[in-house]
Amino acid sequence: MIKILTIIGARPQIIKAAAISRAIKNNFAKEIKEIIVHTGQHYDQNMSDVFFEELGIPKPDYNLNVGSCSHGIQTARMIEGIEALLFKESPDFIVLYGDTNSTLAGAVAASKLSIPIVHIEAGLRSFNRKMPEEVNRVVCDHLSTLLFSPTVAGFENLVNEGFDKMNKQPYTPENPGIFHCGDIMYDNSIYFSKLSDGKSVILEKYNLAPKKYILSTIHRDHNTDDDKNINSIFEALIEISKTTQVVLPLHPRTKKVLELEKHHILLNKIKSNNILIIPPVSFLDMINLEKNALMIITDSGGVQKEAYFFKIPCIILRPETEWVEIVETGNAKLTGSEFTKIINAYQEYIKGNINDFSGIFGDGNASEFILATLLKTFNETKVGKEL
Ligand code: UD1
Ligand code: UDP
Repeated sequence: MIKILTIIGARPQIIKAAAISRAIKNNFAKEIKEIIVHTGQHYDQNMSDVFFEELGIPKPDYNLNVGSCSHGIQTARMIEGIEALLFKESPDFIVLYGDTNSTLAGAVAASKLSIPIVHIEAGLRSFNRKMPEEVNRVVCDHLSTLLFSPTVAGFENLVNEGFDKMNKQPYTPENPGIFHCGDIMYDNSIYFSKLSDGKSVILEKYNLAPKKYILSTIHRDHNTDDDKNINSIFEALIEISKTTQVVLPLHPRTKKVLELEKHHILLNKIKSNNILIIPPVSFLDMINLEKNALMIITDSGGVQKEAYFFKIPCIILRPETEWVEIVETGNAKLTGSEFTKIINAYQEYIKGNINDFSGIFGDGNASEFILATLLKTFNETKVGKEL
C-alpha cells in the first residue's frame, strides 16, 4: 500500500482531483491510500464545497484555511501548513495539479523534505513570465520526480527545457520521468457529461434555449486588474449581446473588481444590456451551459479546453495559451482583450467557420495511466516506506 498526499486549493484543482480520486476508488483501492489536503485558497461554497458534494470527491482530511491574501503571504502560509502535514503523514508521494499558488507551495514544501513530487498537467507553458501561473508551473516541474503532460506540446516543452525522455527508473528529481498521458479533465468531462445530462436544470432555471446564448467566464488578473483590458472586454461583450445573449457565471475576483467605484458606469452598462450575470455554478451545471452554448468566450484555462471537448468554438481572451493545439485547429481564437479582435472572432464563428474537432486530449484514461505509473515507480524503486 502506498500513501499519496494530494494538494488542492483552487476551484479547477478540486474538479481535477475528482478524476484521480475516482480512479483510485474504482481500480487502485487496495494499493493506494489518498490523503487530501485543501489549502483553503478558494473557500466560497460555490467555489469549493459544491464540488465535493456533487463530484463525489472524498472530504479533505485537512483544510489549512489559508484564504485570500497577497501571493507571498498566501504561499508562505500554505508552505508552513503543508510542511507540518508532510511531517505528520510522511507520504510516499505528493500529488500536485496545475499551476496555482497551492501547487507552488506543495512543490516547495515537499522538495525540501525530499518527498517525490508528482505533477499532473506538467509542461504547459504560456512563455509569459508575467503570469503568476507560469512561474508556479515552471518551479513545480523542475522540482518534480514524475511529470505527466496532458498534451504533445506540453511534453515537447519539457524536452526543450532539458528533461530527458529516455530517463529510466529509478526516477528522482535529478532523473525525472516525463510522460505524455492525455488530460484528466478529458476523463472528467466524459464521465460527468452523462451525469450532467440527467441532473442539471440550469437552462430551465435561467430560461436559456440551447444554442441561443454565449457562455463567458473572466478571471485572469491581467484582464480584471487592468482598467483598459476589463473595459475593452466588457465593451465587446456588450456589443455582442446586442445580437446574442451572453451568460456570465461571475468569478469572485471579477465581481469584486466590477463593484469598485471606478467601474460603476461599466457595471450599469453591463446590467442594462443582454448580459446575464449569475453566481459561479456547479461543475454539472457548467458542463450543461458549455455543451449548449453557441460559442464560449473565456480567459479560463479549463473552460477553453472544455469548449473543445464539447465541440464549441471558443474565443480566448488572452494573447497566448498553453493549449496551443486547440488554436491550431482553428476552433479557438486568441484575441487578448482587444475589442476589435473579439468582435471579428465572434463574427467569424457566427458565419459557421468551424473545423473538425480532432482528438488531442487522450482516450479518457489518463488518470488510470498516472496511477499505474505511480505504482510501478514505487514498486521498482521502493520510494518511501511500506504502510
Ligand atoms: C486562482 C489561481 C488561478 C486559477 C484560478 C481559478 C493563483 C496564482 N491563481 O486565481 O491560476 O486560474 O484560481 O479560479 O493561484 N475570492 C473569493 N472567494 C473565494 C476565492 C477567491 O472571494 O472562494 C476572491 C478574493 O477576493 C481573492 C480573489 O478572489 O483575493 C482572487 O483569488 P485567488 O485564489 O488569489 O486567485 P484567483 O484569481 O482565484
Ligand atoms: N467552472 C465551474 N463553474 C463555474 C466556472 C467554471 O464549475 O462557474 C469549472 C470549469 O468548467 C472548469 C474549471 O471550473 O472545469 C475552470 O476553473 P477556472 O476557470 O476558475 O480556472 P482555470 O481553469 O482558468 O485555472
